[in-house]
Amino acid sequence: MTAEEHVAAVPRRTQVGIVGAGPAGLLLSHLLHLSGVDSVVLESRSRAEIEATLRAGVLEQGTVDLLRECGLGERMMREGFIHQGIELLFDGRRHRVDLAALTGGRAITIYPQHEVIRDLVRARVDVGGHLLFEVRNVDVLDFDTTHPKLRYESCGRSQELICEYVAGCDGFHGVCRESVAAAAKTEYARSYPFGWFGILVRAAPYAKELVYAHHDRGFSLVSTRSATVQRLYLQCDPTDRADDWPDERIWAELDARLSTRDGWTLPRGEIFQKGVIAMRSFVVEPMSYGTLHLAGDAAHIVPPTGAKGLNLAVADVHLLAAALAERYTTGKDDALDCYSAVALERVWAAEHFSWWMTAMLHRFSDDDPFGRRMQLAQLRRAIGSAALQTALAEQYVGAPLPGRAGHQNMSPLRQRYRTLVDRADSHADSL
Ligand code: FAD
Ligand code: PHB
Repeated sequence: MTAEEHVAAVPRRTQVGIVGAGPAGLLLSHLLHLSGVDSVVLESRSRAEIEATLRAGVLEQGTVDLLRECGLGERMMREGFIHQGIELLFDGRRHRVDLAALTGGRAITIYPQHEVIRDLVRARVDVGGHLLFEVRNVDVLDFDTTHPKLRYESCGRSQELICEYVAGCDGFHGVCRESVAAAAKTEYARSYPFGWFGILVRAAPYAKELVYAHHDRGFSLVSTRSATVQRLYLQCDPTDRADDWPDERIWAELDARLSTRDGWTLPRGEIFQKGVIAMRSFVVEPMSYGTLHLAGDAAHIVPPTGAKGLNLAVADVHLLAAALAERYTTGKDDALDCYSAVALERVWAAEHFSWWMTAMLHRFSDDDPFGRRMQLAQLRRAIGSAALQTALAEQYVGAPLPGRAGHQNMSPLRQRYRTLVDRADSHADSL
């Protein structure tokens, strides 16, 4: 099919118009399809670009369970790595946090975000899902009515998609949140006086599990991508560019920040990718505006220290898909009406965890020895106290998604949502 024919095949009407083919938009479209709800996804970049963008690596247990349940787990289970612990390095010593032992067997899976994207795109394409790449100038219109519209350009032509709902899954810099009047939304933001310098290295894994390292020279993180490619991060100046970090400087900094009393060092490997990542916390409230619902980075950002961004995007669309399915099976809007409030509970918990990990592990200024002593005191307590270690482990592996097994200690709001999800599930089963 030519690009023009592909555009011509996109319907002019749909139940849910989705802006953005990141993890949030693609998974939402897939979950809606499984519930018999149709959607069209509009993405400004090409398929090759979205499938090649390097970002997250850590999937929470709930994310993994959901991806498996909805038929997307095959390659992830074959190629991903399950980690049952993480390590905190401080004072020259590595301390293991046994995630599985502390959380009743829950763990994280290392499976890169772009692989999740590839699996999702394939799943949508395989069933003829409407997924339009390289669209330009998306406008979100009339979301205070029951027929919101997405106006966009594709192959040089102006098009209009009439929807019943719009899902804004277009990331932090997208158009959906910006389309909402300033008076209708409240934004909470914090930016950090540092960034992360991320590299990919050709080498065998440096450690069995991820290592989060506190050091007077700044934070660093040892992660992995495969048996032959490793992912490392170093706290850096937010204005740094890749050219500021020749390979020798990177290795010298890693050697210094990761040195341990038992002489652990990283063997050199070819560094074949470098980039700087900004660190910020951001939440917009509410996440729903009439028939427009925001999900993922379009509504909130966390610093990557807690590995929560992708997982939050998944948790949002899990709720949103269930709420939309409820709407289309029962005609009732109850679940959609509480989507924002329920999603925001998890968002703020993840914001807090990500801020806490960031504050505990990074160097904030050159002249604050007291602050660094406070960080060490906190790290020692986090390791020395069973209660604090359990709290860290529970937050790191992530709370179970509502409506799934193992969701004790749910707030009344989430319990109410769970009832709605269960009702939608039983309707779907009886169809
Ligand atoms: P995005 O992935 O940003 O997708 C939005 C999509 O919308 C994009 O494809 C974009 O091209 C498209 N778009 C934007 N504007 C428009 C428009 N106007 N019209 C049409 N399309 C548009 N999270 C974790 O959970 N675990 C981790 O380990 C982790 N590590 C990270 C490491 C790094 C270095 C970074 C940068 C992030 C990390 N994250 C992590 C965060 C995670 O990558 C994001 O939270 C996640 O990508 C959010 O998904 P999303 O679908 O909401 O948004
Ligand atoms: C990653 O592997 O990219 C990664 C791992 C853990 C984090 C952030 C990023 O906290």
